[in-house]
Amino acid sequence: MGRLVATLERLTIVDGIADQARKLVRGATRSQRVRDLLHGVWLGHPLHPAVVLAPIGAWLSAAILDAMPGQQAAATTLVAAGTATAVPAAATGANDWASLSREQRRVGFVHAAANTVALGLYGASLTARLRGRHTTGRRLAYVGLAVAGTGAYIGGHLSYALGAGVNQAVPALWLLRGTWQRLGDVDDFVDGEPTVRKLGETPVLVYRQADRFTVMLERCAHHNGPLGDGKIVEIDGAPCVVCPWHGSTYRLTDGVVVHGPAANDQITLRTRIVDGRLEAAPA
Ligand code: FES
Repeated sequence: MGRLVATLERLTIVDGIADQARKLVRGATRSQRVRDLLHGVWLGHPLHPAVVLAPIGAWLSAAILDAMPGQQAAATTLVAAGTATAVPAAATGANDWASLSREQRRVGFVHAAANTVALGLYGASLTARLRGRHTTGRRLAYVGLAVAGTGAYIGGHLSYALGAGVNQAVPALWLLRGTWQRLGDVDDFVDGEPTVRKLGETPVLVYRQADRFTVMLERCAHHNGPLGDGKIVEIDGAPCVVCPWHGSTYRLTDGVVVHGPAANDQITLRTRIVDGRLEAAPA
């Protein structure tokens, strides 16, 4: 099964239709505020994995009730709840999907297609139940659950094997030793100008504001884009760096994510000044 799902990464046949779908998603989410809301920037965590719990939980619970006598009304309520909450779950997923790499988008497209079929089956199941055809409704729901399960498996591959939605900066943190390391003389850092330095093999972005220093991992939490090449902008009076790859924006004074697609803050390090030299260490 794992090998079969891995072949989806090379499924070039879906590229054309996936590109059209991406244009539609981009068109529907032109507002930065809407995109940030759906990515989960306000939550400090990707929103999609949290929201999908609602339809999966409701549908799974309905399947259990469907296997018990006298639970038709409760099962129908749960099928309706799962079908309704699948819509916002799909919106958060589509918004994240549009900022993935080509290979990830292929797998994500099949994940979304499976979930769309599942949603259609549950919609048909709900219609059948409301018309009193509970046996048909039950059968459609069980097929829907199997398709949704397949979609979830593919979604798991997308996250755990291909790294979609995870904080990509974390492995760089593991390369840092836990001890304090020197970054350079304090006077080498110009006020208000971010500078890239290395701690061992790990690039970090150093930002000086008067006597205050921020040191954050230089590779973007979203997809490892080089923040050192990013544009510096001011948002709500705070200096920020914009990732040159997909536009994730982080506050330079504390690494907090201001705009997605990243939903995680950029990891910052502890700093101290010893004998006029700036040092940093993992928190
Ligand atoms: S790598 Fe995608 S926003 Fe930075």
